[in-house]
Amino acid sequence: MPEYAQGAVISGSPDWSRQMQGINLRRALADLKEHWSPRVLGQVNDQYIKVVKVKGQFTLHKHDNEDEMFLVVYGRLVLQFEDGEAALDAGDFYVVPKGKLHKPVAVEECGLALIETVTTLHTGDVKTPLSKSIAEQLAG
Ligand code: NI
Repeated sequence: MPEYAQGAVISGSPDWSRQMQGINLRRALADLKEHWSPRVLGQVNDQYIKVVKVKGQFTLHKHDNEDEMFLVVYGRLVLQFEDGEAALDAGDFYVVPKGKLHKPVAVEECGLALIETVTTLHTGDVKTPLSKSIAEQLAG
């Protein structure tokens, strides 16, 4: 079990009630191997807490029914919209409203935490080779 997840049950059927230690976002990010591949770390009611390491450009997409929160842990993320963009540095967060087209871009590697409704597909309305199922995001 990864160091950040000691005491937590991450894979299989998550049982967050058994978690007896905090989960560290930086360590969880350091454990990720691939860019653009989110990992579920926890759940708050109907929202997942995820981490994802990104670099380069993601696909332009939207989520028709869910807002999505991006929190930058390290690096810089630019969220491009049809009508402008938001540049986020470490410690900044941004909530993309449901239905708004967004394209995450990171020139250098950037570590993010995401808060997303459990039903949110991370590539939204677009199916791409980068799309990961929730099962893949839950897998340790
Ligand atoms: Ni999105």
